[in-house]
Amino acid sequence: MFLFPACSIATADASRPGATQCKIPFMKPPARLQSLIEEGLIDTVVRQLMSGKEATVYVVRRANETWCAKIYKEATQRSFRQAVDYTENRKVKNSRQARAMAKGTRFGREAAEAAWQSAEVDALYRLADAGVRVPKPHNFIEGVLLMELVTDAAGDAAPRLNDVTLEPAQARTHHATLLLEVVRMLCAGVVHGDLSEFNILLGVDGPVIIDLPQAVDAAGNQHAQRMLLRDVNNLRSFFGQFAPELLQTDYGHEIWDLYQRGLLSPEVTLSGRFTHKKGAVNVSGVLREIGDAQAEEAARRLRQQLPR
Ligand SMILES: Nc1ncnc2c1ncn2[C@@H]1O[C@H](COP(=O)(O)OP(=O)(O)O)[C@@H](O)[C@H]1O
Ligand SMILES: [Mg+2]
Repeated sequence: MFLFPACSIATADASRPGATQCKIPFMKPPARLQSLIEEGLIDTVVRQLMSGKEATVYVVRRANETWCAKIYKEATQRSFRQAVDYTENRKVKNSRQARAMAKGTRFGREAAEAAWQSAEVDALYRLADAGVRVPKPHNFIEGVLLMELVTDAAGDAAPRLNDVTLEPAQARTHHATLLLEVVRMLCAGVVHGDLSEFNILLGVDGPVIIDLPQAVDAAGNQHAQRMLLRDVNNLRSFFGQFAPELLQTDYGHEIWDLYQRGLLSPEVTLSGRFTHKKGAVNVSGVLREIGDAQAEEAARRLRQQLPR
């Protein structure tokens, strides 16, 4: 991930009180955003924000609002996340598409590509409805997602959690907030699947969860439990650096257990403790090994564009 040092959003907006003039307020739009300008969906491209493994994100302006535009990379340029465990049980429009996707034909790959990209928009709407703090989607057109730009107190693009240092009390508060978000997501039937300090922004009103194209259906995906545990463990490891007592908690198993028993709700009080049954086979560990091997294989095929 490369962070582009450029003028801040505030400086690009000369109409803001106290804003200084940026030397290059607007950049030449990349080809994929040019057509959105021609159609009047956005006015200008301010700057490139990030170019990650899966997408390139730009700051754009429309009327007097600042949004961001996420342009998805082609499947061949992406990493492992379109692997089997994420796409399993993903809904497509018709059975012809499903068959083509299974065979790996060009039409199938295009259908898989479209399903992958629109999955993020679907998840954003679904999670916003469930009260989860995610960026507000504005539009999704020609493989470009236009959405709210999450900002910090100064109006600049918000930092990722990975870019900040926290006091122990802040770490505890954000950890608790994000666990509640994970619970809300699971109650809405969604597991993020790639939740970490790289996909959480620290906005002016608190943490905001981003980057959802790989979100999986909690009920229909056999890897959902493993992904939920991984997401929650990522939160524990990150916040545990600042508040070490968090490293002793086991919220992931507790949340999944309540979910499976139909007892999970956003009002639930979590203890952070979970008693594992003695002598039980470590099924989730075995499944994780199998799942990882499958994901690796799928990623390899994807890179080489082999039919499945
Ligand atoms: N809505 C947003 N507001 C502010 N910054 C964003 C937003 N969406 C993405 N970003 C920035 O762009 C980066 C890449 O976006 P992300 O959705 O995580 O794509 P990738 O799949 O490439 O990781 C993020 O780490 C974040 O810094
Ligand atoms: Mg990301």
